[in-house]
Amino acid sequence: MSEIEPTQRTDLAEQRLTTTGETDETTQAAWTEFQFEDDAKLAVEALDVYYGNEQALQSVSLDVPDESVTALIGPSGCGKSTFLRCLNRMNDRIKSARIEGSVALDGQEIYSDGVNLVELRKRVGMVFQEPNPFPKSIEDNISYGPRKHGDLDTGLLARLFGTDDAEEAQALVERALRRAALWEEVKDRLGDNALGLSGGQQQRLCIARCLAVDPDVILMDEPASALDPIATAKIEDLIEELAEDYSVVVVTHNMQQASRISDQTAVFLTGGELVEYGETEQIFENPQSQRVEDYITGKFG
Ligand SMILES: Nc1ncnc2c1ncn2[C@@H]1O[C@H](COP(=O)(O)OP(=O)(O)OP(=O)(O)O)[C@@H](O)[C@H]1O
Ligand SMILES: [Mg+2]
Repeated sequence: MSEIEPTQRTDLAEQRLTTTGETDETTQAAWTEFQFEDDAKLAVEALDVYYGNEQALQSVSLDVPDESVTALIGPSGCGKSTFLRCLNRMNDRIKSARIEGSVALDGQEIYSDGVNLVELRKRVGMVFQEPNPFPKSIEDNISYGPRKHGDLDTGLLARLFGTDDAEEAQALVERALRRAALWEEVKDRLGDNALGLSGGQQQRLCIARCLAVDPDVILMDEPASALDPIATAKIEDLIEELAEDYSVVVVTHNMQQASRISDQTAVFLTGGELVEYGETEQIFENPQSQRVEDYITGKFG
């Protein structure tokens, strides 16, 4: 082992010096044609995104299956977060962003006029890199969404009108926290402020908050990158479990993580191009694109 290591290091160092990742390879359409049996949960077709005059995504077409984990990987600035935000129209909030192309959820175009954005974001929930609980109690963090969507009626007015769903709310809070593997750690302190939880607990709380409104798709943008290895392992386990019931799309810059937790992987490269999409094992063990191979073996990015 010790005899081999120095040589490997030199090789790598030389490659880093000589490989920039800029080859004259042209992406082939067949590399992104990932086939699966059932209908796509999300079907993205010829998606272009511009921020002002800068193009961030170039004609991306990609189908996301249900009940599985889809990983999005690629170097910084290649458009992973931009792509993720297109899936529940979060980019609508960015003034300079212009989006062309099509995204269908269960066959329904989400960019058509008249789509209810509150309803869309309930069906396609999002978990961010930094956990962002509301400065409220743990239970209020969970029941906030269902209350807002009218699925729960609690509080002073509800008590006055006799429509109080307090028991239902409790059951829902417990269910979401159990599903997010947090219940055992917080069941005796549901009234405490959520900001008092550890980072890993806060992230699972945000996942529970997302689950509480009963989504179809869960988008996660580097959900574990701010966490220590133990908290990261919990989030990874949870993602794999969630894939039994949901379509999970997760951006990660950690390639080991992508290969551990995902069923299929989409590789974006600089310029906002989707270069390859396929079964995770194939992408990591036998990529078709030279640039993807260079990227995943660490020669650039
Ligand atoms: N709100 C914005 N306004 C203008 N340009 C933006 C905006 N958000 C992203 N961009 C640009 O779009 C490109 C893609 O950015 P994006 O954040 O999607 O990349 P990313 O792959 O998520 O990168 P990272 O791995 O660093 O998070 C970058 O060139 C970025 O500077
Ligand atoms: Mg990003």
